[in-house]
Amino acid sequence: VTAEKAGFDHFMLKEIHEQPQAYRDTMMGRISEDGKSVDLKEVEMTDEQIKAISKIHIVACGTAYHAGLVGKTVIESLARIPVETDVASEYRYRSPIITPDTLVIVVSQSGETADTLAALREAKRNDARVLAITNVVGSSIARDADDVITTWAGPEIAVASTKAYSSQLIAFYLLGLYLAQVRGTKTQDEITEVIDAMKQLPEQVERILEQSDIYKQVAEAVSKHSNLFFIGRGLDFAVAQEGSLKLKEISYIHSEAYPAGELKHGTLALIEEGIPVISLVTQEELYEKTLSNIKEVKARGAHVLAIANAGSEAEVGRSVDELFAIPKTLPILTPALSVVPLQLLSYHASLALGHDVDKPRNLAKSVTVE
Ligand code: AGP
Repeated sequence: VTAEKAGFDHFMLKEIHEQPQAYRDTMMGRISEDGKSVDLKEVEMTDEQIKAISKIHIVACGTAYHAGLVGKTVIESLARIPVETDVASEYRYRSPIITPDTLVIVVSQSGETADTLAALREAKRNDARVLAITNVVGSSIARDADDVITTWAGPEIAVASTKAYSSQLIAFYLLGLYLAQVRGTKTQDEITEVIDAMKQLPEQVERILEQSDIYKQVAEAVSKHSNLFFIGRGLDFAVAQEGSLKLKEISYIHSEAYPAGELKHGTLALIEEGIPVISLVTQEELYEKTLSNIKEVKARGAHVLAIANAGSEAEVGRSVDELFAIPKTLPILTPALSVVPLQLLSYHASLALGHDVDKPRNLAKSVTVE
């Protein structure tokens, strides 16, 4: 068993550490040698079909849904196609408007999630094209989809998804760029800039992992609380939702993720002395706004921990109690880095509380019932 875990205490920790390799493997062969374009041979849509897409629905469950929230922003900003992201168990029952020029993207690590598979079938019944992002070659979802982008994260054993999620983000970046190339929504320079920055991500994750110990200390402090909040704006809010789910599922600590600007519309009433508020502050154009929300919670006694870009310590640091810097990348790519500290935080919190990290209570790795 120890051998399977490659020297790590748990599968989750091993899988967190496999992310740099998962990123490299997911990008490999899909970026041209000159670093100027993305080639997704597995996407068999013709250029005409890609140009005819009028909207995209991203459908998934749990962590894969959270990857889809990032995917929405990525595709909208790169390819300028309107995207809606839905939880699969809700999608079918809201009578979604699926037309033949809708591209439905289903995201699933296992490729066997019942609700996601049902959403895929609903999409096909309505003559939409279905593209799957999945980690399991030959899974039910991979077999039924028209196009499949495989995330080469390798087998994920821990119930809490880590490397599958972050590899799904890489898949969305590749897809967003590919759609942008075909539709001509980005210049060559803009595409090259994103690709260059993507290539740095594996090494940047390695740098975060080298500091794993600092998250252990924070996690021990966090594990003494029974309630906490994650806040952020834009892509930071999408990652906050993933951070909150991760913490809930393995540490059993209640947390909520909030768009930072929504606090004052109700949730601020829950902020009291000492409550931890984990703030993601990586989106430069939203810094000021998020910092003003941080001041609101601090004024009510919250203990604010921030995940921010290296280089922003002076600006962000003076408004928060503790700051964890992540390497600087393009704003759109930040989720592929900022999620890593949150994974480590959940892992260490679960451990500090003596829970079964890899097999949390009440949960299954693959949910094959609706
Ligand atoms: C992730 O940590 C969860 N265990 C869960 O939300 C999971 O992501 C969800 O059940 C979807 O699974 P899938 O990716 O295999 O479809």
